Amino acid sequence: MDWSPSSWQAKEALQQPVYEDEGQLRAICEHLSSVPPLVTSWEAKSLQRQLAEAAHGRRFLLQGGDCAERFDECRVDIIANRLKVLLQMSLALVYGLKLPVVRVGRFAGQYAKPRSSGMETRGDVSLPSYRGDIINGPAFTEADRTPDPQRLIQAHSYSALVLNYVRALSDSGFANLKHPEQWNLEFVHQSPWAQEYRRMVSEIQEAIQFMETVSNVDADSLGRVDFYTSHEALHLHYEEAFTRGVPGAAPHYNLSTHMPWIGMRTAQPGGAHVEYARGIANPLGLKVGPAMSPSMLRTLIQTLNPDNTPGRLTLIHRFGVHQIETLLPPLLEVVRAEGADVLWCCDPMHGNTETTDQGIKTRHFDKILGELEHAFDIHAAEGTILGGVHLELTGEDVTECIGGARGLEEADLQRAYTSHVDPRLNYEQALEMTFCIVRKRRRSLREGQ
Ligand code: PEP
Ligand code: CO
Repeated sequence: MDWSPSSWQAKEALQQPVYEDEGQLRAICEHLSSVPPLVTSWEAKSLQRQLAEAAHGRRFLLQGGDCAERFDECRVDIIANRLKVLLQMSLALVYGLKLPVVRVGRFAGQYAKPRSSGMETRGDVSLPSYRGDIINGPAFTEADRTPDPQRLIQAHSYSALVLNYVRALSDSGFANLKHPEQWNLEFVHQSPWAQEYRRMVSEIQEAIQFMETVSNVDADSLGRVDFYTSHEALHLHYEEAFTRGVPGAAPHYNLSTHMPWIGMRTAQPGGAHVEYARGIANPLGLKVGPAMSPSMLRTLIQTLNPDNTPGRLTLIHRFGVHQIETLLPPLLEVVRAEGADVLWCCDPMHGNTETTDQGIKTRHFDKILGELEHAFDIHAAEGTILGGVHLELTGEDVTECIGGARGLEEADLQRAYTSHVDPRLNYEQALEMTFCIVRKRRRSLREGQ
């Protein structure tokens, strides 16, 4: 069947908002389809090349950021701190794994959320669920919860502000590997992992000095790093508006982000999201959860990557610590049988969400790490490569996930819980997780030899 940027409209589109004024939605999408996009097709292609390398064990993918970005958190400190923690994590991965790292943020467009229920009820009042700032607001009022198409314009503007600042910081020496001390967050003085981090930084600095001395060149190329962007391609009218044909070439790219992904709740092979994604040329992520049967995965691979293009498809599995051992191996088998060239990435967050007796959504550090460790073991045993991790994290000192070296407990969740959706690792937990990943991967490589 022929594909076009709007061919998804003939399919069933789950998780879409219902707007009161369809005409207003159409006018806004028309406007958005002419504003400058956020990224270029060349960038998307270079990301795809790097993901292809990660699939073959020559790079490692670090994908991370908020569960949902917020318009009112489009702030200098929040953006810079998120970048700092991602830089620190990627430094620890480069150093520990001895591999280049592909950095992909869940940012500059991660504004739409799938929800398990369309309505939320409190007492005797029912209102539409909060679906992310691109659709409605989080306050439990009719005004906030009514989907407003103007928010699509705001989402584009805020994405552009975030990305502009990320690009400026990455280009201006903020990411200079010669001065990682400038990414220090408070915790480096307090964290139980401070010593390990400081030792790593000083060894890297010595290595750079040594390299500069023996090669007599200034390691200036270390002054900048690439950050790519990703978000869940959920709001299809928005994604369509940024789907642009490249002059003189056939493929269409979604130029609102480098790497859109298909969420677990919208991965039906006959559904609108898959229809949309199959026709764009970006590298794609596909969330793979407990509902994904081997035959469904086979169909999706055939639909989304019929030419078996390396780097095109990243399978982001998220089963939870208790299910990964039974559910992942049959999927590895079907991918092997297909001869499909995919990048395997583990999201240890979304299968490990639980609700406390107080009704607070949280995740335990040990379960997140447990799923990751199982993932490394299973891939090693099956002869496949786990080439990346996908984490929900923030550069702020929040208390949303339980555990970690500082032993956050359920009672701590009251203190600094700011997410309106899923709980994120705070900066200390995120860095600790990274060191644990390095240890685990080294161990599993040693054992596999
Ligand atoms: C997410 O990544 O925030 C998300 C909703 O994930 P999933 O589709 O895997 O549940
Ligand atoms: Co989430």
